[in-house]
Amino acid sequence: MSDEIKKGLLGIVVDETEVSKVMPEINSLTYRGYAAQDLCAKCKFEEVAYLILNGELPNKNQLKKFENQERKERKLSNTIIQDIKRFPKTAHPMDVARTAVSIMGLEDKETKDNSTEANMRKVMRIFAKMPVALAAFYRARKGKKIISPKKNLSFSENFFYMCFGKVPNKEIVKAFDVSLILYAEHSFNVSTFTARTITSSLSDIHGAITGAIASLKGPLHGGANEEVMHMMKKIKKPENAFKWINKALDNKDVVMGFGHRVYKSGDSRVPTMREYFGKVAKLKKDKKFEKIYDIVEKVMIERKNIHPNVDYPTGPTYHLMGFDTDFFTPIFVISRITGWSAHIIEQYAANKLIRPLAKYKGNQHRKVVQLNQR
Ligand code: SDX
Repeated sequence: MSDEIKKGLLGIVVDETEVSKVMPEINSLTYRGYAAQDLCAKCKFEEVAYLILNGELPNKNQLKKFENQERKERKLSNTIIQDIKRFPKTAHPMDVARTAVSIMGLEDKETKDNSTEANMRKVMRIFAKMPVALAAFYRARKGKKIISPKKNLSFSENFFYMCFGKVPNKEIVKAFDVSLILYAEHSFNVSTFTARTITSSLSDIHGAITGAIASLKGPLHGGANEEVMHMMKKIKKPENAFKWINKALDNKDVVMGFGHRVYKSGDSRVPTMREYFGKVAKLKKDKKFEKIYDIVEKVMIERKNIHPNVDYPTGPTYHLMGFDTDFFTPIFVISRITGWSAHIIEQYAANKLIRPLAKYKGNQHRKVVQLNQR
């Protein structure tokens, strides 16, 4: 039994999975064997959600059934709606997401049943309701009337409709759909591993997803897409970018949206998301952030050989789509619920309690001295 410490489980293989893999031979993240870029070009998000959860791409009938099920489950209970209206307006939407899943868990009639069939039904309820709960808070905190979901809208269209009261043009919806496909799954990232760890004690799926959301909020993980936007707003204009990023590197700052534990010469999702970021910038006639994006990327690669990760292009894209910055990571959540759920179900199917060891470096054995002598 080696007692060599691998901090952060760096390079440690702890289990196997069939859900996704980064295939170096095609330099691509693959979901159930399909390249993410291929899925972005040929599928809409609901097809990919079905694939991640079920292992195969749906045919027309299977997709229709899946979409009908998702749209049927969008309705929130009055309890959740009333609660959302009472949440502090200053609450972070990631904390609202975490709380909403906990309330769903309180209400779900199948919480005690961890069978695959029951878990799949629970996943659909969480998957369908999360965007509705987030959009409800998006409007409630602005003092606006909550907009109910529409059954005749796709997953992406419906999120825009519930947040803004209207569906944008199809290019914007496609760019949003692509971002959801790229965010859906990424093997044993920290939030997915959190979900698997919670599942390994045979706790329930609501608890596992609540924990995963808490983990994703961190700026080293999903929270990075918000931090990218804060950075771009600090830079303000392209002519400041070169000086700003060099100063940040001189200060040894961690630059959000860059670097990755797995990809060391570039996140395979970035070229696709960068392409759609450019399309949205063109449609919105706002190239400022693209110029900042390119200058910062160039310096990061030239000075540190550190490449962007998927959070770097998604941040400014969501900003141009009109979302509040603190809603960027919640958008990551509505997509990653699919990946987390596939891993939770996989963990149940071949479970072993996750319990690593620690190398002790504290006090050696010593006797207790009574209080009146201490
Ligand atoms: C996601 O795991 C996943 O798959 C996650 C994800 C998913 O889909 O689930 O891909 C989503 O979380 C993407 C990552 C988003 N986070 C950020 O953008 C935050 C900024 N990135 C860094 O914090 C960092 O790159 C990590 C945390 C993402 C990865 O870091 P590692 O693998 O733990 O490596 P490290 O922090 O030890 O860095 C190695 C070196 C260090 O330099 P030295 O101390 O050796 O001199 O590279 C440097 C770091 O300082 N470095 C950076 C940097 N990232 C690494 N320096 C400045 N800015 C950065 N962003």
